[in-house]
Amino acid sequence: MDFVGKTAVVTGGANGIGLATARLLRSRGADVWVFDREQEKPEEVAAAFTAHGASVDVADLQSLEACFARVESVDVVVANAGTVIYHSLSATTAEEWNRVISVNLTGVFYTVQLAASRMKPQRKGSIVLTASTNSYDGEVDLTAYNASKAGILGILHTAANEFGPYGVRINAVCPGLIRTRLTESLFNSPRALKEYFRHIPMGRGGSPEEVANAIVFLASDAASFITGTTLLVDGGQMASKFGTWTEERADFFGDRWWLR
Ligand SMILES: NC(=O)c1ccc[n+]([C@@H]2O[C@H](COP(=O)([O-])OP(=O)(O)OC[C@H]3O[C@@H](n4cnc5c(N)ncnc54)[C@H](O)[C@@H]3O)[C@@H](O)[C@H]2O)c1
Repeated sequence: MDFVGKTAVVTGGANGIGLATARLLRSRGADVWVFDREQEKPEEVAAAFTAHGASVDVADLQSLEACFARVESVDVVVANAGTVIYHSLSATTAEEWNRVISVNLTGVFYTVQLAASRMKPQRKGSIVLTASTNSYDGEVDLTAYNASKAGILGILHTAANEFGPYGVRINAVCPGLIRTRLTESLFNSPRALKEYFRHIPMGRGGSPEEVANAIVFLASDAASFITGTTLLVDGGQMASKFGTWTEERADFFGDRWWLR
């Protein structure tokens, strides 16, 4: 997975999964751009690993266009910026719905559109989207988030169909529960984790680096015949319908389940 001579853009690259991805791409030789909100100080964050930073709101097409205009040519785009609001379906306000959809779904649409406008004339390029296990399931209190992540799969499949003839690939990772500030409150509650992790065959949550490995694989030439697909990075969670871990044969400590 060699990215020497390639340029990569990572949206939401100043924190969590995006930051781990930007760092990994940089370590593999890519010239990396971190696109993130101004308050996350993307220039400062990126400079720490000799990458570039640009302030953006992915929900605002003009701001995203201005950032892409600063990047000479682009080989890899990771559409990763995302946000979450926890509310039941009945309690979700129109404003909350619009906010989550505009960042997580419209933001990905804009990013993919701009990436493709640069990649199609080059007849090459690779786009990776950060979807979620929530693209498939109906976790409570996450109506807008679940809808946005399911919608990303619609973009994925259509774009793969349209971009394939131009030699441009597009794929998505579907992370399960990953320890980032988005999920920090859950990780701070051992009781909640114990119940959540019952359904994860690996018995634990994931790290941003474990998702970054999958993103960078899909972005790389090692995935040259892979497009239009999703890669679950969930410790087996989507394969576990009835729960994997019970007190009869396992103990929960140190933020994970262990076989006795
Ligand atoms: N953490 C998890 O368990 C998990 C699971 C599945 C999917 N995801 C997805 O992974 C992606 C990254 O999330 P994370 O967990 O690393 O969280 P994070 O909060 O650490 O990172 C998200 C980044 O997106 C940026 N962002 C948010 N709104 C933006 C906007 N309008 N314009 C530009 N940047 C914006 C934030 O500033 C932040 O840097 C998200 O799309 C999230 O939905 C996370």
